[in-house]
Amino acid sequence: MPTPVPPPALPPTIAWRGGADGHLELLDQTRLPHEQHVLEIHSVEQAIDAIVRLCVRGAPAIGVAAGYGLVLGVRNASPGAAAFLDVVRDVAGRLTASRPTAVNLKAAIDRCVVAVAAEPTLERLFREVQAIHAEDVESCQSIGQHGRDLVKAGATVLTHCNTGRLATAGEGTALAVLFAAWRAGVRFRVLANETRPLLQGTRLTALELAAEGIPVEVIVDGAAAGLIARGQVNLVLVGADRIAANGDFANKVGTYGLALACAAHRVPFYVAAPVSTFDLEAASGDAMPLEQRDATEVLTLGGQVLARPGLGARNPAFDITPGRLVRGFITDLGVLEPPFVPVIKTMLSARR
Ligand code: MRU
Repeated sequence: MPTPVPPPALPPTIAWRGGADGHLELLDQTRLPHEQHVLEIHSVEQAIDAIVRLCVRGAPAIGVAAGYGLVLGVRNASPGAAAFLDVVRDVAGRLTASRPTAVNLKAAIDRCVVAVAAEPTLERLFREVQAIHAEDVESCQSIGQHGRDLVKAGATVLTHCNTGRLATAGEGTALAVLFAAWRAGVRFRVLANETRPLLQGTRLTALELAAEGIPVEVIVDGAAAGLIARGQVNLVLVGADRIAANGDFANKVGTYGLALACAAHRVPFYVAAPVSTFDLEAASGDAMPLEQRDATEVLTLGGQVLARPGLGARNPAFDITPGRLVRGFITDLGVLEPPFVPVIKTMLSARR
C-alpha cells in the first residue's frame, strides 16, 4: 500500500464567530480535498444554500448548521413576542425542508422552536443552538469510547460515505470509533467506499483517515460485496441519517447493499449514531422521507458531463436498511443490540 502523504490540518467544519449578532463559518466541503475554502454565512438564505449544495453535510453537522441558520433568519424580526414567533416558525419550516432525510436537522430545529415558545428571545434561541452544538461534540466523543473495542488488531474495516469530523461538529460517528481505537493503540486498515455520486468516501473520508495516520484505500462501491464474500473485510461500520423505532435506518445510498452482503457472509455490520439520530415517530423505515437529488450529480463527475444529452438518471441520496441486518448501534449512551424495539424505547425514555 502506498504511504499516504498526510494532508494539512483542516479548519473547523462549523464555527460561529461572535455573539448572537455574529456569523456562521462553514468549511466548503464541495471543494475538498483540493481547496480549503471557508464560507462566511450571514443570512438564512446562504445557510440553506450551503446545506442544499452539501457545502456542509452529514446528519449531525446539518443539524448544528441549521440551528445557526435559524438564528441568522430571525434576528431581525420585528419587536414583540408574537412577531418573533411567527418569523421563527416560518424560517424553521424553510430550514427543515432543505434536507429531509437526516432527522438531526428537524430535531435541532424543533428543539429550538420549543425553547423560544417558552422564552421568545434571540438570546434564548442562540443559547439553545450553542447547547446543540456542544452536545454534538460530546456525543461524538462518547460514541468513539463506546465503540472502540469492536475494532480488533489486524482487522480490515469497511466504511461508506463520510462519518467523521466533516459530518459532525465533533470527531464523527463511525469514524470517531476508528479514531478512538487507533489512539488506543489498535492497528487496523480501512477500505473506504468511494460513495458515488458525490464521492464523500474518496474526497472526505480518505482525507480524514490519512490525517490521523490510519492506512486507507478507496474502493469503488461495486467492489465491496465481492471483497466481503472473499473474507477480506472483518467489520463494516457506517453512520445513519435517521433510525426508526424498530432499528430500520436511512443512510447514504449503497448502505443497504453492504448490509445484505454482510448478512450473507456473516460479517459484523454496525451503525454508529448519536441519540439525536433516533426518530421514535417513525415506526419503521417505511415512514422515512428519502431525499431525491438532481440527476446531474449522476450524469457528471467532477463537473465533467459523462453522458449524451437526454439521458435520464435516478438519484436517491439515501436508502433504508432493515434493522434485522444490524448487529448493533453504537450510540453516545452505549452499544444497543437486538431486540431493537424495546432496547431503543428504553434508551430514549431514559434520555428524556
Ligand atoms: O448526503 P450526505 O453526505 O449528507 O450523507 C451523509 C451520510 O449519509 C452519513 O453517513 C450520515 O449523515 C451519518 S454521518 C454522521
